[in-house]
Amino acid sequence: MKRRPLLAGNWKMHTTVAEAHALAVEIGKCSEGLDDRDVILAPPFTSIHEVASVLKDSCVEVVAQNVCWEEQGAFTGEISPLMLKEAGVTSVIIGHSERRQIFSEDHELINKRMLGALKYDLKPIFCIGETLAEREGSKTFTVLEEQLKGGLAGLSLRDMQKTVIAYEPVWAIGTGKTATKEQAQEAHAFIRKLLSEMYEKDIADTIRILYGGSVKPDNVDELMAQSDIDGALVGGAALDAESFCRIINFI
Ligand code: PGA
Repeated sequence: MKRRPLLAGNWKMHTTVAEAHALAVEIGKCSEGLDDRDVILAPPFTSIHEVASVLKDSCVEVVAQNVCWEEQGAFTGEISPLMLKEAGVTSVIIGHSERRQIFSEDHELINKRMLGALKYDLKPIFCIGETLAEREGSKTFTVLEEQLKGGLAGLSLRDMQKTVIAYEPVWAIGTGKTATKEQAQEAHAFIRKLLSEMYEKDIADTIRILYGGSVKPDNVDELMAQSDIDGALVGGAALDAESFCRIINFI
């Protein structure tokens, strides 16, 4: 089944407002006419407004890197779904491995963020992935299943239709080590099979599963050629206009 490709750039904790502006201008230009795929950018919160205004007439959507489940209140350091929507955000990354590892976000917390985002009509990009030790200990599939079931608990079929999954092996993030196309395809096929057991095959067939972890101009084409890889979640290479432009223009 053909799913519409989705290319996502995650700027993490990089870019001043001026740098974000300049990068968004370049990405806006090289995304012109790309009507057979979706392109999204996740700037840091402080640059969301600027990037959204630069890209308002383009096909590039602005998304966030995290979200709280409450719309307001005493949640120092968090960001409300309503605040994101007001800033023009349509989707949000949830459960990134940096949140899980550095900030100890567990399945329960990630699940609250998922349900919170959906309640306010923000589309989640839900990240899962194993560490090197887990892969070497043959635990990849067990870990992916735990993360999937934990993070998606309580999501309805309708919610799943709005959700994107990102498979990001932790050992491939920011390391320059990409999963081979075979390793990535194997994990994506496993995730899709699990989704069809948890929901329905028809739904699982429509859910986009992105690959993330050292996606670069020189590996994007072969990754995107895999039958269960529907897009890429790009970190480092999304901070370089030329590289990201090549990635979104994958062949
Ligand atoms: P990377 O990051 O492309 O720098 O490996 C990917 C990610 O964290 O989403």
